Amino acid sequence: MSTFPVTRLRRFRRTNALRALVRETRLDLTDFVYPLFACPGVGVEEPLEGLPGIARRSIDVLCDEAEELQRLGIEAVLLFGIPEEKDEVGSGAYDDDGIVQRALRSLRERAPGLVLVTDVCLCEYTSHGHCGVVQEGEVLNDVSLELLARTALSHAEAGADAVAPSDMMDGRIGAVRGLLDGDGFEHVSVVAYSAKYASSFYGPFREAAGTAPAFGDRKTYQLDPPNLREALRECELDLGEGADAVMIKPALPYLDVIAAARERFPAPIFAFNVSGEYAMIKAAAASGWLDERQAALETLTAIKRAGADVIISYWAKELARWL
Ligand code: PBG
Ligand code: ZN
Repeated sequence: MSTFPVTRLRRFRRTNALRALVRETRLDLTDFVYPLFACPGVGVEEPLEGLPGIARRSIDVLCDEAEELQRLGIEAVLLFGIPEEKDEVGSGAYDDDGIVQRALRSLRERAPGLVLVTDVCLCEYTSHGHCGVVQEGEVLNDVSLELLARTALSHAEAGADAVAPSDMMDGRIGAVRGLLDGDGFEHVSVVAYSAKYASSFYGPFREAAGTAPAFGDRKTYQLDPPNLREALRECELDLGEGADAVMIKPALPYLDVIAAARERFPAPIFAFNVSGEYAMIKAAAASGWLDERQAALETLTAIKRAGADVIISYWAKELARWL
Protein backbone atom coordinates (compact mmCIF):
# COMPACT_ATOMS: atom_id res chain seq x y z
CA MET A 1 0.00 0.00 0.00
CA SER A 2 1.42 3.32 -1.01
CA THR A 3 1.32 6.23 1.35
CA PHE A 4 2.11 9.92 1.26
CA PRO A 5 3.54 11.54 -0.78
CA VAL A 6 2.35 9.14 -3.53
CA THR A 7 -1.15 8.86 -2.13
CA ARG A 8 -2.96 12.18 -1.78
CA LEU A 9 -6.69 11.90 -1.03
CA ARG A 10 -7.12 15.61 -1.63
CA ARG A 11 -6.78 15.05 -5.40
CA PHE A 12 -10.42 13.96 -5.70
CA ARG A 13 -11.60 16.82 -3.50
CA ARG A 14 -10.15 19.52 -5.74
CA THR A 15 -13.29 20.50 -7.67
CA ASN A 16 -17.03 20.09 -7.48
CA ALA A 17 -17.06 17.73 -10.43
CA LEU A 18 -14.30 15.54 -8.99
CA ARG A 19 -16.07 15.32 -5.66
CA ALA A 20 -19.32 14.40 -7.39
CA LEU A 21 -17.55 11.68 -9.34
CA VAL A 22 -16.44 9.79 -6.22
CA ARG A 23 -19.50 10.57 -4.08
CA GLU A 24 -20.66 7.39 -2.32
CA THR A 25 -24.15 8.41 -1.20
CA ARG A 26 -26.78 10.40 -3.07
CA LEU A 27 -30.21 11.61 -2.05
CA ASP A 28 -33.01 10.79 -4.44
CA LEU A 29 -36.46 12.31 -3.99
CA THR A 30 -38.07 8.95 -4.76
CA ASP A 31 -36.56 7.54 -1.55
CA PHE A 32 -38.60 9.97 0.53
CA VAL A 33 -41.97 9.83 2.23
CA TYR A 34 -43.65 13.06 3.29
CA PRO A 35 -45.87 13.07 6.41
CA LEU A 36 -49.34 14.63 6.07
CA PHE A 37 -51.86 15.50 8.79
CA ALA A 38 -55.56 15.28 7.96
CA CYS A 39 -58.07 17.14 10.15
CA PRO A 40 -61.83 17.75 10.03
CA GLY A 41 -63.47 20.72 8.34
CA VAL A 42 -63.30 22.46 4.99
CA GLY A 43 -60.66 24.92 3.83
CA VAL A 44 -58.59 24.38 6.96
CA GLU A 45 -54.83 24.89 6.87
CA GLU A 46 -53.49 25.23 10.36
CA PRO A 47 -49.70 25.71 10.65
CA LEU A 48 -48.10 23.66 13.39
CA GLU A 49 -46.01 25.28 16.04
CA GLY A 50 -42.86 23.22 16.53
CA LEU A 51 -43.08 21.89 12.96
CA PRO A 52 -42.45 25.01 10.86
CA GLY A 53 -43.70 24.61 7.30
CA ILE A 54 -46.02 21.72 8.21
CA ALA A 55 -49.77 22.12 8.68
CA ARG A 56 -52.89 20.24 9.60
CA ARG A 57 -55.17 20.28 6.60
CA SER A 58 -58.79 19.43 5.97
CA ILE A 59 -59.26 16.80 3.27
CA ASP A 60 -60.02 19.27 0.45
CA VAL A 61 -56.82 21.24 1.17
CA LEU A 62 -54.88 18.01 1.67
CA CYS A 63 -55.86 16.91 -1.85
CA ASP A 64 -54.56 20.19 -3.33
CA GLU A 65 -51.34 19.64 -1.41
CA ALA A 66 -51.07 16.08 -2.72
CA GLU A 67 -51.32 17.31 -6.31
CA GLU A 68 -48.62 19.89 -5.59
CA LEU A 69 -46.39 17.17 -4.08
CA GLN A 70 -46.74 15.03 -7.18
CA ARG A 71 -45.86 18.01 -9.36
CA LEU A 72 -42.69 18.41 -7.26
CA GLY A 73 -41.78 14.76 -7.74
CA ILE A 74 -42.75 13.41 -4.31
CA GLU A 75 -44.30 10.01 -4.81
CA ALA A 76 -45.18 8.81 -1.31
CA VAL A 77 -46.90 10.22 1.77
CA LEU A 78 -47.50 8.97 5.31
CA LEU A 79 -50.96 9.87 6.56
CA PHE A 80 -51.83 10.83 10.14
CA GLY A 81 -55.32 11.73 11.29
CA ILE A 82 -56.55 14.25 13.80
CA PRO A 83 -60.10 13.18 14.66
CA GLU A 84 -63.05 15.29 15.78
CA GLU A 85 -63.46 13.26 18.95
CA LYS A 86 -61.47 10.84 21.05
CA ASP A 87 -62.68 8.08 23.35
CA GLU A 88 -61.39 5.34 25.68
CA VAL A 89 -60.99 2.76 22.91
CA GLY A 90 -59.95 4.97 19.99
CA SER A 91 -63.05 4.26 17.88
CA GLY A 92 -62.06 6.94 15.36
CA ALA A 93 -59.05 4.85 14.32
CA TYR A 94 -61.11 1.99 12.85
CA ASP A 95 -64.26 3.89 11.85
CA ASP A 96 -64.96 3.42 8.12
CA ASP A 97 -65.95 7.05 8.09
CA GLY A 98 -62.93 8.17 10.15
CA ILE A 99 -60.68 11.04 9.17
CA VAL A 100 -57.90 8.91 7.64
CA GLN A 101 -60.36 6.63 5.83
CA ARG A 102 -62.12 9.62 4.25
CA ALA A 103 -58.80 11.25 3.39
CA LEU A 104 -57.64 8.03 1.71
CA ARG A 105 -60.72 7.80 -0.50
CA SER A 106 -60.33 11.42 -1.62
CA LEU A 107 -56.58 11.14 -2.18
CA ARG A 108 -57.05 7.96 -4.22
CA GLU A 109 -59.27 9.92 -6.54
CA ARG A 110 -57.35 13.19 -6.73
CA ALA A 111 -53.78 11.83 -6.72
CA PRO A 112 -54.09 8.34 -8.23
CA GLY A 113 -50.39 7.49 -8.53
CA LEU A 114 -49.35 8.72 -5.11
CA VAL A 115 -48.17 5.98 -2.72
CA LEU A 116 -50.41 6.17 0.34
CA VAL A 117 -48.92 4.85 3.57
CA THR A 118 -50.90 5.14 6.79
CA ASP A 119 -49.77 5.28 10.40
CA VAL A 120 -51.71 2.60 12.28
CA CYS A 121 -52.05 3.44 15.95
CA LEU A 122 -54.67 4.30 18.52
CA CYS A 123 -52.95 7.22 20.28
CA GLU A 124 -54.40 9.95 18.06
CA TYR A 125 -57.87 8.59 18.80
CA THR A 126 -57.79 7.64 22.49
CA SER A 127 -58.79 10.08 25.23
CA HIS A 128 -55.84 8.88 27.34
CA GLY A 129 -53.39 9.23 24.42
CA HIS A 130 -51.86 5.77 24.74
CA CYS A 131 -51.24 3.56 21.71
CA GLY A 132 -53.40 0.68 22.98
CA VAL A 133 -56.37 -0.10 25.19
CA VAL A 134 -55.90 0.98 28.81
CA GLN A 135 -57.29 -0.83 31.84
CA GLU A 136 -56.44 0.19 35.39
CA GLY A 137 -53.53 2.24 34.18
CA GLU A 138 -52.02 -0.60 32.11
CA VAL A 139 -51.73 -0.65 28.33
CA LEU A 140 -53.15 -4.06 27.39
CA ASN A 141 -51.36 -5.92 24.65
CA ASP A 142 -53.55 -8.69 23.26
CA VAL A 143 -56.81 -6.74 23.51
CA SER A 144 -55.23 -3.90 21.51
CA LEU A 145 -54.21 -6.19 18.65
CA GLU A 146 -57.73 -6.68 17.42
CA LEU A 147 -58.39 -2.93 17.26
CA LEU A 148 -55.07 -2.22 15.54
CA ALA A 149 -55.75 -4.92 12.95
CA ARG A 150 -59.23 -3.49 12.34
CA THR A 151 -57.65 -0.07 11.86
CA ALA A 152 -55.23 -1.46 9.29
CA LEU A 153 -58.01 -3.27 7.46
CA SER A 154 -60.18 -0.14 7.28
CA HIS A 155 -57.21 1.76 5.81
CA ALA A 156 -56.68 -0.97 3.22
CA GLU A 157 -60.38 -0.89 2.31
CA ALA A 158 -60.17 2.88 1.87
CA GLY A 159 -57.23 2.60 -0.53
CA ALA A 160 -53.95 2.48 1.42
CA ASP A 161 -50.99 0.96 -0.44
CA ALA A 162 -49.18 0.20 2.81
CA VAL A 163 -50.06 0.29 6.49
CA ALA A 164 -47.48 1.13 9.13
CA PRO A 165 -48.29 -0.04 12.67
CA SER A 166 -46.53 2.28 15.14
CA ASP A 167 -48.04 1.08 18.41
CA MET A 168 -45.28 -1.34 19.51
CA MET A 169 -47.63 -4.01 20.88
CA ASP A 170 -46.18 -7.54 20.68
CA GLY A 171 -47.67 -9.59 17.85
CA ARG A 172 -49.24 -6.71 15.95
CA ILE A 173 -47.65 -7.45 12.60
CA GLY A 174 -49.02 -10.99 12.59
CA ALA A 175 -52.45 -9.72 13.64
CA VAL A 176 -52.49 -7.07 10.90
CA ARG A 177 -51.16 -9.41 8.18
CA GLY A 178 -53.65 -12.10 9.17
CA LEU A 179 -56.70 -9.83 9.00
CA LEU A 180 -55.58 -8.20 5.73
CA ASP A 181 -54.97 -11.56 4.06
CA GLY A 182 -58.24 -12.98 5.34
CA ASP A 183 -60.11 -10.11 3.72
CA GLY A 184 -58.51 -10.11 0.27
CA PHE A 185 -55.88 -7.46 0.94
CA GLU A 186 -52.82 -9.65 0.52
CA HIS A 187 -51.42 -7.02 -1.88
CA VAL A 188 -51.27 -4.31 0.80
CA SER A 189 -47.78 -3.92 2.32
CA VAL A 190 -46.99 -3.78 6.01
CA VAL A 191 -44.22 -1.39 7.02
CA ALA A 192 -43.45 -2.23 10.64
CA TYR A 193 -42.28 0.49 12.98
CA SER A 194 -40.10 -2.28 14.42
CA ALA A 195 -37.49 -0.32 16.32
CA LYS A 196 -39.48 2.56 17.69
CA TYR A 197 -37.75 3.99 20.71
CA ALA A 198 -39.28 5.74 23.73
CA SER A 199 -37.68 8.97 22.54
CA SER A 200 -37.83 12.61 23.57
CA PHE A 201 -37.68 13.59 19.90
CA TYR A 202 -41.41 13.11 19.27
CA GLY A 203 -42.28 16.30 21.19
CA PRO A 204 -43.42 18.53 18.30
CA PHE A 205 -45.44 15.69 16.74
CA ARG A 206 -47.34 15.04 19.96
CA GLU A 207 -48.17 18.73 20.10
CA ALA A 208 -49.30 18.64 16.46
CA ALA A 209 -51.38 15.49 16.73
CA GLY A 210 -52.51 16.00 20.31
CA THR A 211 -51.17 12.59 21.34
CA ALA A 212 -49.21 13.28 24.51
CA PRO A 213 -50.28 10.55 26.97
CA ALA A 214 -52.59 11.86 29.68
CA PHE A 215 -50.74 9.79 32.30
CA GLY A 216 -47.45 7.93 32.41
CA ASP A 217 -45.26 7.50 29.35
CA ARG A 218 -44.73 5.00 26.53
CA LYS A 219 -41.78 3.20 28.11
CA THR A 220 -43.72 -0.02 28.75
CA TYR A 221 -44.14 -0.57 25.02
CA GLN A 222 -41.61 1.52 23.08
CA LEU A 223 -37.95 0.43 23.04
CA ASP A 224 -35.49 1.50 25.70
CA PRO A 225 -32.98 3.88 24.00
CA PRO A 226 -29.81 2.12 25.22
CA ASN A 227 -30.78 -1.18 23.52
CA LEU A 228 -29.52 -2.22 20.11
CA ARG A 229 -29.80 -6.02 20.19
CA GLU A 230 -33.39 -5.76 21.34
CA ALA A 231 -34.13 -3.57 18.29
CA LEU A 232 -32.73 -6.29 16.04
CA ARG A 233 -34.94 -8.85 17.78
CA GLU A 234 -37.95 -6.62 17.09
CA CYS A 235 -37.01 -6.44 13.40
CA GLU A 236 -36.52 -10.18 13.24
CA LEU A 237 -39.87 -10.91 14.89
CA ASP A 238 -41.71 -8.44 12.65
CA LEU A 239 -40.18 -9.89 9.50
CA GLY A 240 -41.11 -13.34 10.78
CA GLU A 241 -44.71 -12.19 11.25
CA GLY A 242 -44.81 -10.97 7.65
CA ALA A 243 -43.55 -7.38 7.65
CA ASP A 244 -42.51 -6.23 4.17
CA ALA A 245 -40.17 -3.58 5.56
CA VAL A 246 -38.88 -2.53 8.95
CA MET A 247 -38.48 0.95 10.35
CA ILE A 248 -36.01 2.52 12.74
CA LYS A 249 -37.29 5.59 14.57
CA PRO A 250 -35.97 8.20 15.37
CA ALA A 251 -33.21 8.21 12.76
CA LEU A 252 -30.29 10.46 13.66
CA PRO A 253 -29.72 9.32 17.27
CA TYR A 254 -30.05 5.68 16.09
CA LEU A 255 -27.77 5.53 13.04
CA ASP A 256 -25.98 2.57 14.62
CA VAL A 257 -29.29 0.69 14.74
CA ILE A 258 -29.94 1.48 11.06
CA ALA A 259 -26.46 0.25 10.15
CA ALA A 260 -26.83 -2.94 12.19
CA ALA A 261 -30.26 -3.69 10.69
CA ARG A 262 -28.89 -3.03 7.19
CA GLU A 263 -26.08 -5.51 7.82
CA ARG A 264 -28.44 -8.16 9.12
CA PHE A 265 -31.65 -7.98 7.04
CA PRO A 266 -32.13 -7.84 3.28
CA ALA A 267 -35.61 -6.30 3.67
CA PRO A 268 -36.14 -2.60 2.88
CA ILE A 269 -35.27 -0.39 5.82
CA PHE A 270 -37.25 2.77 6.53
CA ALA A 271 -35.92 5.47 8.84
CA PHE A 272 -38.18 8.11 10.37
CA ASN A 273 -36.44 11.48 10.63
CA VAL A 274 -38.86 12.58 13.36
CA SER A 275 -40.37 15.88 14.38
CA GLY A 276 -37.77 16.71 17.04
CA GLU A 277 -34.89 16.10 14.64
CA TYR A 278 -36.52 18.49 12.19
CA ALA A 279 -37.47 21.05 14.83
CA MET A 280 -34.02 21.39 16.32
CA ILE A 281 -32.41 22.27 13.01
CA LYS A 282 -35.29 24.61 12.14
CA ALA A 283 -34.89 26.37 15.49
CA ALA A 284 -31.12 26.67 15.21
CA ALA A 285 -31.46 27.99 11.66
CA ALA A 286 -34.09 30.51 12.76
CA SER A 287 -31.58 31.80 15.31
CA GLY A 288 -28.98 32.11 12.58
CA TRP A 289 -26.77 29.44 14.16
CA LEU A 290 -26.53 27.16 11.17
CA ASP A 291 -27.55 26.94 7.55
CA GLU A 292 -30.78 24.93 7.31
CA ARG A 293 -30.30 23.56 3.82
CA GLN A 294 -26.78 22.34 4.49
CA ALA A 295 -27.62 20.91 7.90
CA ALA A 296 -30.71 19.13 6.57
CA LEU A 297 -28.89 17.67 3.56
CA GLU A 298 -26.03 16.51 5.77
CA THR A 299 -28.46 14.88 8.20
CA LEU A 300 -30.50 13.13 5.51
CA THR A 301 -27.34 11.95 3.75
CA ALA A 302 -26.07 10.49 7.03
CA ILE A 303 -29.30 8.54 7.44
CA LYS A 304 -28.96 7.14 3.95
CA ARG A 305 -25.24 6.43 4.38
CA ALA A 306 -26.05 4.46 7.54
CA GLY A 307 -28.18 2.16 5.39
CA ALA A 308 -31.75 3.45 5.16
CA ASP A 309 -33.51 2.73 1.87
CA VAL A 310 -36.45 5.00 2.57
CA ILE A 311 -36.53 8.16 4.69
CA ILE A 312 -39.68 9.63 6.15
CA SER A 313 -38.97 13.32 6.54
CA TYR A 314 -40.73 16.65 7.01
CA TRP A 315 -38.05 18.09 4.70
CA ALA A 316 -39.19 16.08 1.68
CA LYS A 317 -41.01 19.03 0.14
CA GLU A 318 -38.11 21.46 0.60
CA LEU A 319 -35.80 18.74 -0.64
CA ALA A 320 -37.66 18.74 -3.93
CA ARG A 321 -36.46 22.30 -4.46
CA TRP A 322 -32.96 21.71 -3.10
CA LEU A 323 -32.03 18.69 -5.20
C1 PBG B 1 -47.87 7.49 16.97
C2 PBG B 1 -46.69 8.12 16.31
C3 PBG B 1 -45.75 9.02 16.87
C4 PBG B 1 -44.92 9.39 15.82
C5 PBG B 1 -45.33 8.69 14.70
N1 PBG B 1 -46.42 7.90 15.03
C6 PBG B 1 -45.63 9.61 18.21
C7 PBG B 1 -45.42 8.79 19.41
O1 PBG B 1 -45.22 7.57 19.37
O2 PBG B 1 -45.50 9.41 20.47
C8 PBG B 1 -43.79 10.37 15.91
C9 PBG B 1 -43.52 11.14 14.65
C10 PBG B 1 -42.65 12.33 14.82
O3 PBG B 1 -42.22 12.69 15.93
O4 PBG B 1 -42.36 12.95 13.80
N2 PBG B 1 -47.64 6.28 17.59
ZN1 ZN C 1 -49.30 5.61 19.04
